[in-house]
Amino acid sequence: MMKFVFYFTVISTVIFPLGKCYSEEKNVNNNMIINAPFENFERKFKPDWKDLDTRQLPKWYDDAKIGIFLHWGLYCVPGYHSEWFWAYWKGGDKEIVKFMADNYPPGFTYQDFAPMFKAEFFNASDFAELFLKSGAKYVVLTSKHHEGYTLFPSKRSFSWNSVETGPHRDLVGELSEAVRQKGLKFGVYHSLYEWYNPIYLEDKKANFTTRHYAESKLWPDLKQLVNDYKPSVIWSDGDWEANDTYWKSTDLLAWLYNDSPVKDEIVVNDRWGIGTSCKHGDFYNCADRYNPGKLQNHKWENAFTMDLTSWGYRRNMAIQDVMSIDKFLFHVISTVSCGGNILELRFLAQEIGSFSFVIMTTGFKKRLKFCNQF
Ligand SMILES: *[C@@H]1O[C@H](CO)[C@@H](O)[C@H](O)[C@H]1NC(C)=O
Ligand SMILES: *[C@@H]1O[C@H](CO)[C@@H](O)[C@H](O)[C@H]1NC(C)=O
Ligand SMILES: *[C@@H]1O[C@H](CO)[C@@H](O)[C@H](O)[C@H]1NC(C)=O
Repeated sequence: MMKFVFYFTVISTVIFPLGKCYSEEKNVNNNMIINAPFENFERKFKPDWKDLDTRQLPKWYDDAKIGIFLHWGLYCVPGYHSEWFWAYWKGGDKEIVKFMADNYPPGFTYQDFAPMFKAEFFNASDFAELFLKSGAKYVVLTSKHHEGYTLFPSKRSFSWNSVETGPHRDLVGELSEAVRQKGLKFGVYHSLYEWYNPIYLEDKKANFTTRHYAESKLWPDLKQLVNDYKPSVIWSDGDWEANDTYWKSTDLLAWLYNDSPVKDEIVVNDRWGIGTSCKHGDFYNCADRYNPGKLQNHKWENAFTMDLTSWGYRRNMAIQDVMSIDKFLFHVISTVSCGGNILELRFLAQEIGSFSFVIMTTGFKKRLKFCNQF
């Protein structure tokens, strides 16, 4: 309680009114001012970075300060290691190989997890209510992680989406509606690449001189997401194997900013191909858990995890793996006071009610509620 009073005093009386940037470092440069007027003009953007970079950040995003990042996909079924379970398993990770041998029949494949993904206790409006109470202003859900399984009925992801296989529900649709009903903004995380998509792997084999995956899968999927769910954020990821020429990122952004149904509202991060990170995009992520500790001259976001080692649900998370309240507060205060936004991780478990899940949810919910006391 003493600590809480102390932090609260620091925040309310010192940091925010003086516009000071709270940092562990001494002598930080507090003089930089984040981009001025935050207004979008009626204009058309050319599909090149020079022009795209002149776009003003939509005001809602700068005002929002705190968002919730949800990693949900088939990796929550084994609930072990992290959302990179499949890649590590195929890569021969000893612990995962043993975990599979101990718990699943021989010949079991990652695809076999899909029908086991039920989401039977998932209630979108209950979650939206929790997010509202946490004080967060936006919620970003993984519409598709690197495994390629989509939480919406992608027309190009046959049997590898949550409507055809698994819960038989449009999870992006349910959560986007519930979140908006509470007055919060909804965004989608979307992985550009898919580890084992054969069309992608063909392009990769051709050193990305062919663009079959980008044309026939990626683009149509992204447009479907934007047209059907009207996200306010696209949190792009999985860009690092190819450059933005292959992904055609600037064309996509020009379409988003000029002609899409979310053109005035949309904000995107900076993962759009080799070399784009920390350079382009409405806000910069730069790296996972990025927290530069000083004011930046461009809007940025600190996306970090409450589970210190994983973004996805894992049943073997120990209580000491959960970020402490002190550290959590440090991130919130230093990020927000230095002009960044917090995108803090929660994840949806498969809601299987296991012991570890109960502890985890309780721990996370407590921290979320604590956050709201500011
Ligand atoms: C979700 O929970 C609310 C109450 O919290 C209830 O009214 C609603 O019917 C539930 N929705 C579903 C789909 O179960
Ligand atoms: C791709 O690049 C590698 C290394 O530069 C080269 O060895 C290979 O022949 C290239 N493959 C194709 C299909 O161009
Ligand atoms: C992007 O990658 C493609 C295919 O590998 C290559 O032809 C092109 O020169 C690269 N562009 C840039 C700007 O590096």
